[in-house]
Amino acid sequence: MEYVTLNDGFRMPVFGLGTWDLRGPACIEAIVQAVNTGYRLIDTAQLYRNEKEVGQGIRKSGISRDELFITSKVISPDKTYDAVIKAVDRSLEDLGLEYIDLYLLHEPYDTAQEMYAALKKAQQEGKVRSIGISNFHKEKYSGFVKECGIVPAVNQVESHVYFMQKDLQEQMHAHGTVMQGWAPFTEGRRKIFDEPLMKRIGEKYHKTSAQIALRSLLDNGICTIAKSSKPERLRENIDIFDFRLTEEELKEIAELDEHRSLFGWY
Ligand SMILES: NC(=O)c1ccc[n+]([C@@H]2O[C@H](COP(=O)([O-])OP(=O)(O)OC[C@H]3O[C@@H](n4cnc5c(N)ncnc54)[C@H](OP(=O)(O)O)[C@@H]3O)[C@@H](O)[C@H]2O)c1
Repeated sequence: MEYVTLNDGFRMPVFGLGTWDLRGPACIEAIVQAVNTGYRLIDTAQLYRNEKEVGQGIRKSGISRDELFITSKVISPDKTYDAVIKAVDRSLEDLGLEYIDLYLLHEPYDTAQEMYAALKKAQQEGKVRSIGISNFHKEKYSGFVKECGIVPAVNQVESHVYFMQKDLQEQMHAHGTVMQGWAPFTEGRRKIFDEPLMKRIGEKYHKTSAQIALRSLLDNGICTIAKSSKPERLRENIDIFDFRLTEEELKEIAELDEHRSLFGWY
């Protein structure tokens, strides 16, 4: 696994497991499989309603806590300072953890600064290590960062070959915020696995289109999280640390960028 150092000094794996839509025993098993396959970052959220299963999976895997990096997120209606304080405690209890590595505001809510103040308090108290935001586009990010006091360690946003958001990444890099992309496979909205360019580049490295899609993000300095519930795909997706794409290949892949969201979030 490769790591990036965040603006608060903590290290985050550049790649991890997403858990959107994973619930019940399938979620627990996916966590166990992922950890045993080498995954060290697990992304959950209160929205996903699976923090309990994520916690169970972590314990079942037998890995020591300090080897893992766990992310969670708070979502509306917990939009006040007090509600976010309680939300963090709820996540800790559901996950069964003493601290969470990274805690994010799930979206740019109108009370984002007030909510973020509660994350700063949780950070001071050692309940969370790093704090950040999610789904803040360029304008929202620049307004937020002027007043937030502690620069978000991470902004987790949509990022894949069709909408990489390199301009947002550059803007955030200047302030010290790491970009972490979600939906690297477009959550199935595009036939990314059949993309001829990804297949052609994959042939050269004996890699699949999925692996090229993930590598193209990492080689652009973008961290990413991918979801799978299937052991063979979990293995495939993490098998991306023995090659790098060339500048020429990254330029070709950049031609796929349509510079607009596939999800309409921005
Ligand atoms: N902050 C936010 O607002 C936000 C929004 C969306 C997502 N996220 C996070 O980002 C994570 C990743 O995004 P996502 O889950 O939406 O979408 P994704 O990772 O782009 O795609 C997941 C889909 O791809 C399939 N898949 C995975 N690996 C594959 C492979 N090697 N070959 C073929 N198919 C493959 C999975 O199916 P199988 O499970 O059947 O393998 C699943 O249907 C989420 O799980 C969540 O943690 C955050």
